[in-house]
Amino acid sequence: MTPGAKLTDAITVPAEDALLSALLAELGPRSVLSGDAIPVRNEKDWSTLAPVRPLAVVRPVTAEEVSATMRLCQRFGVPVVPQGGLTGLCGGALPVEGCVALSLERMTGIEEIDPAAATMTVRAGTPLEAVQKAADEAGFFMPLDLGARGSCAIGGNLSTNAGGNRVIRYGMARDMVLGLEVVLPDGTVIRGLNKMLKNNAGYDLKQLFLGSEGTLGIITRAVLRLFPKPGCTMAALCALPSYDSTVRFLGAARRGLGPLLSAFEVMWPDYWQVVTRQVPGVRNPIAGEHASYVLVEAQGMDEAIDAPRFQAWLEAQAEAGILTDAAVSQSLADVRAFWGVRDACAEFVQVLGPHESFDIGLPVARMDDYVQACKAALEERLPGVVALFYGHIGDGNMHIVSFLPGAATQPKRVIQEVVYDMVRRFGGTISAEHGIGLSKKPWLGYVRSDAELELMQRLKTALDPQRLLNPGKVL
Ligand code: LAC
Ligand code: ZN
Repeated sequence: MTPGAKLTDAITVPAEDALLSALLAELGPRSVLSGDAIPVRNEKDWSTLAPVRPLAVVRPVTAEEVSATMRLCQRFGVPVVPQGGLTGLCGGALPVEGCVALSLERMTGIEEIDPAAATMTVRAGTPLEAVQKAADEAGFFMPLDLGARGSCAIGGNLSTNAGGNRVIRYGMARDMVLGLEVVLPDGTVIRGLNKMLKNNAGYDLKQLFLGSEGTLGIITRAVLRLFPKPGCTMAALCALPSYDSTVRFLGAARRGLGPLLSAFEVMWPDYWQVVTRQVPGVRNPIAGEHASYVLVEAQGMDEAIDAPRFQAWLEAQAEAGILTDAAVSQSLADVRAFWGVRDACAEFVQVLGPHESFDIGLPVARMDDYVQACKAALEERLPGVVALFYGHIGDGNMHIVSFLPGAATQPKRVIQEVVYDMVRRFGGTISAEHGIGLSKKPWLGYVRSDAELELMQRLKTALDPQRLLNPGKVL
């Protein structure tokens, strides 16, 4: 050691250099970006958390290269943060200080569509929209769908167990997976590319990696279930006199539409007013003001049979006094326009400015009680606060957008405290579909018992004893 050099320089700088040289030697310069070559996009995701510059961005093209990256990072004790489309809202893919960001962006493409098994084998970095399109071109339907479809990657969708708009019919991302290839923190490659719908041979290991947000292993390939392509889609935007009628309407939709029911989205009046008055391009087909608004969608096989049946079912609901008013789609353009009202929340950053957003879960019967209690509690702590409520109510999943108009910095912590404290009291969950990442970590203990958290820690320790894979996320 030369006189005057710091001890930390002597230990850490050469270790980082040695890791980079080893990664370069193993993967080549196209796969290892460091210094000025690190793209700004890899410094953050869609959460509101501050960007973090990684030590390097590694972009492998095979599971073997992912494995080599993991082995080398373990050897040098450097953390690894897996990254997909970087559209997560909770900081799950945000780099941690001094980490290697392992981006799956070059591991793209559909490897196989098996029409007999109705499966697709896909590489983890493939954008969701490309997966949907490939299924469609092969005469199938891949039902996972969410706003970020053009940017998000299927590997990220699976590792976060994404929800989205069609959960009521097809389930969460986890329900669309038959097999996974995963690289463990020590570099072991688990090739579990099962294509059989039924396979009870031992533990269902893939479930460890679905929804654990890249903390237990890195998903590199997946076998997805494909579904029959719907022959027609019908939707209605409905106005209802109360939340009670909304719950009755949901029951009626389940019974009357049966397996055709593909979405049941509810919007509370404050949300409705903001999107129909403030978001450009949103068409409001409903006159007057109402207590509750529902977007109901059904996917059938035969338009000649299913469209009139949908219409007749809706008319029966109006006659029974469950609905006050409804606009029924006459075309796919109408269906899209109706979804425009629900999806207008994607414009909230531009329209409303900085805000806190939530994806809580609640018992369906108590959603409106929650809304009233939460609004009152927010108003008490933060007079003048705005809170908009909407979401996938058929799945027990509510979104909240809240902000204090005119505040120089948003009272993020207070809003979170009120929302999550109330979630705890109502027996709900702090995340129904977006995950925990970094931003919801402080609240996990509100909805998971000590014994559950301890078991999660034991799983983490068993798979990642050095705690180098996506450290500090979830747990
Ligand atoms: C939605 C996303 C934000 O439902 O989960 O709009
Ligand atoms: Zn959602």
